[in-house]
Amino acid sequence: MPTPAVVKASNASFHPSYVPVAVFVGGTSGVGQGMLEAFARYVQGRAHLVIVGRNEHAAADIIAHLPKPDGGADSTQWTHEFVQCDVSLMKNVRAACSEIRAKCERINFLVMTASYNSMMNPGVTSEGLDLHLALRYYQRFVWVEELLPLMQAAQARSEDAKVMSVLGAGRGSPKKPADLENLGNMTKPREGRFAVALRSLIMSSNYTDAMFAYFAAQNPGIAFIHIHPGAVRTSAHQASTDFDGLLTPLGWILRLILPWISVSQDECAEHMLYALFKNERGLFLCDRYGDAVSSLVFDAPVEFGENNETSVLNGVPMPGYGASDLGVQKIVEYTKEATRAR
Ligand SMILES: NC(=O)c1ccc[n+]([C@@H]2O[C@H](COP(=O)([O-])OP(=O)(O)OC[C@H]3O[C@@H](n4cnc5c(N)ncnc54)[C@H](OP(=O)(O)O)[C@@H]3O)[C@@H](O)[C@H]2O)c1
Repeated sequence: MPTPAVVKASNASFHPSYVPVAVFVGGTSGVGQGMLEAFARYVQGRAHLVIVGRNEHAAADIIAHLPKPDGGADSTQWTHEFVQCDVSLMKNVRAACSEIRAKCERINFLVMTASYNSMMNPGVTSEGLDLHLALRYYQRFVWVEELLPLMQAAQARSEDAKVMSVLGAGRGSPKKPADLENLGNMTKPREGRFAVALRSLIMSSNYTDAMFAYFAAQNPGIAFIHIHPGAVRTSAHQASTDFDGLLTPLGWILRLILPWISVSQDECAEHMLYALFKNERGLFLCDRYGDAVSSLVFDAPVEFGENNETSVLNGVPMPGYGASDLGVQKIVEYTKEATRAR
């Protein structure tokens, strides 16, 4: 476990020879904001930074306070901009990706933190998707799928090409295999708000492992990092303790305890960047300090077989990995169908 000082020293050694292009989906607050601001500090503002979210005012305020490099507003050297998008709908994500493709020829870093954490409102979107999965998982799949050519363009220039999903890595276990009979959480009866939300929460982590295993195996030169941020004082933190009815006292207790065991978004952001900067290529499942719990590097594209053992990837044991080879196939196939043409 690296200390905060070690993490900061490591991050401060990030000196790319090129002007990095980084997209922060969820950069208007929370961990994403912390990561964006720290990233901008480490490159003294010399980057093309794209913030994605709904809150235009928050984005404008953040952009106004980012460091600006010497040499004035040379837009070939740096740009800090906002792309507005409600990512709960896949059609919005696809439209935002078109906008980004028109602005950027390559992407070096794609960081995804926008999410949903209410345990009281499981919901279904107007596109017919489970709301938790739409915000915690499906939208992230669509960002990667749509922006992958730009990541590949960065890789082709021998630059960094890294994707990070800040969610819930390292929770997978052979004792808790992904339920392939209830893909998308839409087959089993949706009775009991808490139970439905809990199922989606667990699924979103397992599915993220599966999608990153899939993309990493197809793109051996790109890093796909699924990371758990730990307990962080953000709006998500608040939302996840907002219980009602009989569970109200649980919310009170959690709100009393969590400030003592959680960290600030800025402290968390340094650990997330530590994992982002140091992992070069392959699949990484990382803990809240940025250390890898499991990882696998592919030397050539790999197609997975039919093995259905959870926490084993292409024959390699992967502690904390929440999918199986068969699970990757089923989950990715289901996801492509569920998000298609929206
Ligand atoms: N905080 C914790 O203790 C904790 C613990 C475990 C896991 N996590 C996970 O870590 C990640 C980051 O957490 P966080 O605490 O930073 O989350 P957060 O504070 O809830 O993140 C807020 C960001 O998500 C964006 N967002 C939310 N809904 C959106 C929507 N419909 N469309 C577009 N953007 C949307 C917000 O943008 P706008 O407001 O501009 O729309 C904002 O930029 C999440 O995946 C979370 O589930 C957090």
